[in-house]
Amino acid sequence: MLAEAFAEELVNRIIEAARKKTPLTLAVSGGNTPKLLFSVLAEKYYTSVDWNMVRLFWVDERCVAPDDPESNFGMTEKILLEKINISAGNVFRMRGEDDPEMEAQRYSGVLSSHTGNKNGFPVFDIIILGMGDDGHTASIFPGNNKLLSSDNICEVAVHPVSGQKRITITGKVINNSRSVFFLVTGNRKSEIVKEIFRSSAVSEMFPSSHIKSVNGTTTWLLDNEAAKFIG
Ligand code: 6PG
Repeated sequence: MLAEAFAEELVNRIIEAARKKTPLTLAVSGGNTPKLLFSVLAEKYYTSVDWNMVRLFWVDERCVAPDDPESNFGMTEKILLEKINISAGNVFRMRGEDDPEMEAQRYSGVLSSHTGNKNGFPVFDIIILGMGDDGHTASIFPGNNKLLSSDNICEVAVHPVSGQKRITITGKVINNSRSVFFLVTGNRKSEIVKEIFRSSAVSEMFPSSHIKSVNGTTTWLLDNEAAKFIG
């Protein structure tokens, strides 16, 4: 199962970080796909790693309070953080309840202070991305090209359907990560996966097609359903 396999890979990276006594910077996405990964980590690996070797960040956040059902942090807290021993000082949530522009600036500073830096941008050791069936990733939605070319670390985005405001890290920050992982599952994603993998040219209609680490590796983890047209 995809979540199980990736959980093992992630845990091995954390164990390696502990061996090197170098905290691992990890940025996670929200939505549904990460839920299975988080529950596997909480159930199988809650004691087998020193979670305080992880500095945890978010890729994006809905502009809602942390206890709102829409909150990416709230989801992660409920499924994972409440089950593992990670100190509050290692968890850097985006404050969805605050003024979006102010929070985008604040969180840009948080990333600059608490992650590595290369090419003038923060560096995550690992970033876990999902992909919407419209090809978006993080909160970089189709046609929102400025979030792919922005020199800002974080920006305010707007969901094209709901109008919901989001804080998101930008494309250059994502591509500055050492290891970029896309976790994409389900039939619903099979068409967009086919589009992205078949059309070699990147397209602003599919922000995920712009994502490729400039600093390391980009890995697409697809289950059989999502990969059915390209497998
Ligand atoms: C969010 C995520 C978003 C997500 C995709 C895929 O805040 O919703 O960061 O980018 O990864 O929308 O979502 P699913 O995993 O729910 O399909």
